[in-house]
Amino acid sequence: MKQSKIYSSNRAPGNGSLPNTSPKIERLKRLDIVTLFPAMFEGPMSESLLGRAGKRGIIDIRTHNLRDWSASDRHRTIDDRPYGGGPGMVIQVEPIYRALRTLKVQGAKFFGKKKKPHVIYLSPQGRVLTQAHAASLSKRPWIILVCGHYEGIDERALSLIDEEVSIGDYVLTGGELPAMVLADVVVRLVPGVVKEAGSLAEESFQDGHLDYPHFTRPAVWKGKRVPAVLLSGDHAAIRKWRTAQAILATRKKRPELLTRRKR
Ligand code: ADE
Repeated sequence: MKQSKIYSSNRAPGNGSLPNTSPKIERLKRLDIVTLFPAMFEGPMSESLLGRAGKRGIIDIRTHNLRDWSASDRHRTIDDRPYGGGPGMVIQVEPIYRALRTLKVQGAKFFGKKKKPHVIYLSPQGRVLTQAHAASLSKRPWIILVCGHYEGIDERALSLIDEEVSIGDYVLTGGELPAMVLADVVVRLVPGVVKEAGSLAEESFQDGHLDYPHFTRPAVWKGKRVPAVLLSGDHAAIRKWRTAQAILATRKKRPELLTRRKR
């Protein structure tokens, strides 16, 4: 079965051993992405933090072409017209079933039979992704992302899915971009992926508010000065200023985050 494995190409597809980490630590170790367009993932995955997480052996990320599990070998068809009529095509349940069945067998070689993948279908009908949700996903050892296209998937395939996730209240042409977004958000929260842990602790949404403003050289640019406190070397004062600025920025740009937090 052909697979597009993005990282560590020297390993046999599906049979590789786990990245060299303790099995006791609950964190994402393997991410499988089932898609009709594996090539879409090559650029972002190899150029970004996701690529580095793969190359450094922290997470095994693999893409899989859903057409490999077509019920018709000759045409590699995976979709059909909707019952009841209407526009577009619907992805059939059988290829999704076969894909998940195969990946579960492959994953069992990784994790042992007991470990079940957390299967996510990217869809505008899902729960909208938040930083807190991403943080909980980053603790799941094995995630499978299923990307839809066309008019969606046969409703019966939802029985094979653990949760539907949306990246926002708008409709994209497919689940690939949402899968990349989800992968990026989740993978960077896995311990060891982002080198400076402080950069995670202090960023936007971490505490229910936005990030504080950042400045770098020059200290004066076209008459605009960097706030004096940041040049003072007084770390306590800097911390206080940053906390106040984060709250101010949230009140100005995203006030609903502050009211949501109180609930
Ligand atoms: N597929 C199409 N639109 C989507 C969205 N907003 N989120 C997740 N998957 C999608």
